[in-house]
Amino acid sequence: MRSSQTSIPPKKNCFLTVLFLFLSTSSAQNVLRRGSSLSVEDDSDILTSPDKTFSCGFYGTGQNAYWFSIWFTNSKDRTVVWMANRDRPANGRGSRVSLRRDGAMVLTDVDGSIIWETNTTSTDVGRAELLDTGNLVLKDPGGKILWQSFDFPTDTLLPNQLFTKRTKLVARLHSGSYASGYFSFFFDNDNVLRLIYDGPDISSIYWPNPDFDVFRNGRTNYNSSRTAVFDEMGHFISSDQLQFSAPDTDLLRIKRRLTMDHDGNLRLYSLNNETGLWVISWQALSQLCNVHGICGINSICVNTPDPKCSCPPGYEITEPGNWNKGCKPMFNSTLSQSQQVKFVLLPHVDFWGFDLNFSASTTFDSCMKLCLGDYRCKAFSYRLDGGGRCFTKGVLFNGYQSPSFPGNIYLRLPVSFETSQLGILNGTDLICQSAESETTIGSPSMYNFNTKRTRWVYFYSFASAIGFIEILFVVSGWWFLFRKRGSPNLAEDGYHLVLSPFRRFTYTELKKATNNFKEELGRGGSGAVYKGILTDERVVAVKRLENMYQGEDVFWAEVSTIGKINHMNLVRMWGFCSEGKHRLLVYEYMEYQSLDKHLFSPTFLEWKDRFKAALGIAKGLAYLHHECLEWVMHCDVKPGNILLDSEFEPKIADFGLAKLSQRGDNSSDFSQIRGTKGYMAPEWATNLPITAKVDVYSYGVVVLEIVKGIPLSNWVIEGREEHDESDLTRFVRVVKRKIQCGETSWIEEIVDPRLNGQFSRSQATTIVELGMSCVEEDRNKRPTMDSVVQALLECLDES
Ligand SMILES: *[C@@H]1O[C@H](CO)[C@@H](O)[C@H](O)[C@H]1NC(C)=O
Ligand SMILES: *[C@@H]1O[C@H](CO)[C@@H](O)[C@H](O)[C@H]1NC(C)=O
Ligand SMILES: *[C@@H]1O[C@H](CO)[C@@H](O)[C@H](O)[C@H]1NC(C)=O
Ligand SMILES: *[C@@H]1O[C@H](CO)[C@@H](O)[C@H](O)[C@H]1NC(C)=O
Ligand SMILES: *[C@@H]1O[C@H](CO)[C@@H](O)[C@H](O)[C@H]1NC(C)=O
Ligand SMILES: *[C@@H]1O[C@H](CO)[C@@H](O)[C@H](O)[C@H]1NC(C)=O
Repeated sequence: MRSSQTSIPPKKNCFLTVLFLFLSTSSAQNVLRRGSSLSVEDDSDILTSPDKTFSCGFYGTGQNAYWFSIWFTNSKDRTVVWMANRDRPANGRGSRVSLRRDGAMVLTDVDGSIIWETNTTSTDVGRAELLDTGNLVLKDPGGKILWQSFDFPTDTLLPNQLFTKRTKLVARLHSGSYASGYFSFFFDNDNVLRLIYDGPDISSIYWPNPDFDVFRNGRTNYNSSRTAVFDEMGHFISSDQLQFSAPDTDLLRIKRRLTMDHDGNLRLYSLNNETGLWVISWQALSQLCNVHGICGINSICVNTPDPKCSCPPGYEITEPGNWNKGCKPMFNSTLSQSQQVKFVLLPHVDFWGFDLNFSASTTFDSCMKLCLGDYRCKAFSYRLDGGGRCFTKGVLFNGYQSPSFPGNIYLRLPVSFETSQLGILNGTDLICQSAESETTIGSPSMYNFNTKRTRWVYFYSFASAIGFIEILFVVSGWWFLFRKRGSPNLAEDGYHLVLSPFRRFTYTELKKATNNFKEELGRGGSGAVYKGILTDERVVAVKRLENMYQGEDVFWAEVSTIGKINHMNLVRMWGFCSEGKHRLLVYEYMEYQSLDKHLFSPTFLEWKDRFKAALGIAKGLAYLHHECLEWVMHCDVKPGNILLDSEFEPKIADFGLAKLSQRGDNSSDFSQIRGTKGYMAPEWATNLPITAKVDVYSYGVVVLEIVKGIPLSNWVIEGREEHDESDLTRFVRVVKRKIQCGETSWIEEIVDPRLNGQFSRSQATTIVELGMSCVEEDRNKRPTMDSVVQALLECLDES
């Protein structure tokens, strides 16, 4: 199947020759014959696949623990893809793997005890062979495969390795261990591929989204064949309709693996053949805090954006350094009914599952009563979407904090417990506040995974991560004094949109809402936008997509990903329609106009609104690039795609569309040029891979325009000749020269003269400097959106 690949480099050839001299057998070293064995002491006792991609033999760590394994020969840190004895390591002396005369392959320890064996006793196995696919097979003399390691995966699936109802990927216990851990990837009884945390205390499925049904998650459950596989191109397909592709599909010879990682995420990796490092090309969850069980009981996971575990007020870490054990209460946890209790508000926090009771359309008071009336109740969750939903919690597990979560947790504590001793901080909005310095692995791309994430820095003090507010005192059990209108409204700061869940519309519905597509609001590359009014009187903007040819299920899956994105600086998508050839998207309607209308018109924006726009756009993009459910590149950032609300808070429109049309033309590569001339990064014109840095470039152009108040995106066209230098390049050149020449008043000369000097010098300087670094030709020199946000936040209060 695989055509012969690169010729072996001379150095390797030499090595092989040497190896060849040492080996007594005449055959290639990818075969172990019946009656021979591999010894743990001899480093050269390994099998290598014919194309050298994989090696098989003893793999050990410093602690005299050895595993019979298969690994990638050329990855920098030996990447193990299979292990025979992960839970029972062998001794570093005297252990061996033999292909016994009775046909079984057996791993024996120093004392001769059998650690592992294949089920091929009394078959006519002739040899063991390591194939180019990474599959170790036992064959009979006729070449028939009697056993294969592909049938017994550990935590990794390789291209063309069939995943079935009998197989399961089980993560390692932690990064330093190869033993079986608690997270696994498997076909559930209803034929759906899932991720589960199956720990000592609880089991909990966390992917796909357990709050949604199978179809809402883009899967199906009718096909009981339960098979999944991915090919060398990185295209994964499963009988439950889960499909995804690596972004680098045309690079045929990239090595790939799908691994159930020890942090609970399932990731598809590609090997960078130059650096020997693995790059993530797909992952099941982009927010690790959505992994259940990750922080242990009573603890809360916070994305900052690296996931961190912390203990809520009144709780402390059970075993410092080990978050699997979670947090333990610092008070006597049997809260009797007669004991006085109080509730502490944890904004935007939830503990998933373990509800004692659920009631919809409840008032805050009755929700609290429900918790008070049940001695098992440790906290209750109250959320205003759906008209007041109340969940009482008997166990605090799977805790996470997310600024977009529409509810709050009210934690029950004894009244005598002094919460103030923890140092109350105000609730902080964690979105975009943490600048991550870019760690560059090979050539940076949006698919690089920040290595920092694997070494989490946990912190213990709750207060520095999440604000909490002590809300009320309750006197003995049922009897409490609480004003009827006392429901705290501090919870709802900026998250009222969640009342309307994302849904599917019919074409007739949208036709009616838009009065047969009468009022056109605008028109872009992907289609026209119409104003509409839904039956519930919500005003919406309906976008009619043109040239979208992909199937309904793919469209559905993609769109529901976009629909889950919720950030104050992104235009909210409320639903979609996919019927026959019609593909429509339904968005919240923005009363006010786009940024270009404000910026380049006689009614110009004041400085503080310009700064707000620059910061808001950066936050929105940082969210798309670094924090949301999947990495999303916008690919068409320009003032026309940024809408301002009545407070001039910017909201980015049209995100996710690049992704939709990307899947549409059936190539996961951004081969087709997208975007708007003048805002497009130079790599669109070259063959470089398209990364999130294209948005950073466009952002740079936009903020420079914000400062200057005139379009810089025009190309200079004089007569019929199109000059190379754009307004932008000239602008950057001029500004750089001014700075170099030490002109002190350069910033005054740049800022929009219509402001009459009414602006913050330091803010303007920061924006111009940021903008210029964003439009660097070399994308590696451009900052990430996270660091842009950080830089802007630092000068937020100066004026
Ligand atoms: C060994 O086990 C595999 C997987 O369970 C099975 O497919 C195969 O038939 C078994 N081989 C023998 C010889 O029993
Ligand atoms: C079930 O899934 C398998 C594997 O993807 C596929 O070959 C088969 O056609 C599917 N069956 C039905 C009825 O869709
Ligand atoms: C690395 O991969 C690229 C394409 O994917 C290929 O052109 C190049 O020859 C490879 N380099 C090596 C050392 O295999
Ligand atoms: C906790 O309270 C219960 C009932 O009030 C009591 O029996 C128990 O001894 C207390 N435990 C501790 C550790 O104080
Ligand atoms: C939930 O609460 C309601 C109202 O108090 C009660 O009627 C119901 O029995 C409770 N359900 C459970 C399962 O405890
Ligand atoms: C908390 O917020 C209040 C009012 O918003 C402010 O006065 C106070 O300084 C803040 N405290 C801290 C610690 O940030």
